[in-house]
Amino acid sequence: MKVVSVMNYKGGVGKTTLTANIGAEIARWGKRVLLIDLDPQASLTFSFYRPEDWRAHLAEGRTIKQWFEAWRMDGPVPGLEVLVTAPTVANSRIAHNGGRLDLIASHLALGDVEMDLAARLGGAQIHRSTRHYFDVYLRLAAGLATLPGRLYDLVLIDCPPNFGVITRSAVAASDQLLIPARPDELSTLGIDHLQSRLRRFTWEFNQVADLQADLRPAVKKLEPMILGVVFTMVQYYGGQPVSALRPYIAQTRSLGLPVFDAMLRESNKHFAGAARAQLPAILTEQLSRELAWELQSLVEEFLKRIRTANHGS
Ligand SMILES: Nc1ncnc2c1ncn2[C@@H]1O[C@H](COP(=O)(O)OP(=O)(O)O)[C@@H](O)[C@H]1O
Ligand SMILES: [Mg+2]
Repeated sequence: MKVVSVMNYKGGVGKTTLTANIGAEIARWGKRVLLIDLDPQASLTFSFYRPEDWRAHLAEGRTIKQWFEAWRMDGPVPGLEVLVTAPTVANSRIAHNGGRLDLIASHLALGDVEMDLAARLGGAQIHRSTRHYFDVYLRLAAGLATLPGRLYDLVLIDCPPNFGVITRSAVAASDQLLIPARPDELSTLGIDHLQSRLRRFTWEFNQVADLQADLRPAVKKLEPMILGVVFTMVQYYGGQPVSALRPYIAQTRSLGLPVFDAMLRESNKHFAGAARAQLPAILTEQLSRELAWELQSLVEEFLKRIRTANHGS
């Protein structure tokens, strides 16, 4: 089971759209995929469930919020499996190949959990509260470990647009990170910033782990690997990304980050309506040939990069 977090500081860069479409396509190819929505905006959840169905069947007891709330320090890790749902409409287009697409839904009040977790971390005196430190940051990793082995080939985590406690716990649970970005100046700056926050968090986490070297079981050091930056909402002209975008793509490469060759074009027509259909664009019949090809190339490259990364480690 590979765990990949989809993250970027910024909102509106296509994190949720990519998570839903990559996850759905890989599931359609016969794999078992679990999507986890960690954003209080719950757009990933609402890509698969109508708001009224979410309210009636999920909101009260079957979202990641209740799972965080069920945690007791020193108690057993609450199982994640009871929260897993299988969106029906999407799965009806996937199941023929033996694949499946599951989802752990989010909650609009997940922001409260974020604040509770931040309070538990307790700020300055890290060395006094290392138990709290790992209790908070390793929750998601511990939760994923409660899933039966071999249940999923891939877990994709859709992060909120910040680098808060919940996002950091997703980093700590992930093998790799995928960074969607728009090719513009602010996004390029944002990626640079994200990269330095990632480095700082990893450094801090590993320092605290060193301080606690006598913990049993020992805390595993973090080594989050950036799978790559994927450019989304790319404008095309005459079959090519418009030339004004190229400097930003080059600038991102110069940050020393891997950049996907595959990109996702801007298409209001195909992406804006997807939420209403409870289906990611890739599973709809209306998808244009170019876009289907683009998404498939993206998924192929994604899987190839995951495989290559594994060989390296
Ligand atoms: N390639 C695209 N072309 C046009 N619109 C897009 C594209 N990708 C996403 N969108 C739209 O842009 C908005 C933000 O995308 P979303 O995936 O929710 O971003 P994020 O999760 O980073 O906030 C949504 O309304 C979505 O439908
Ligand atoms: Mg989102």
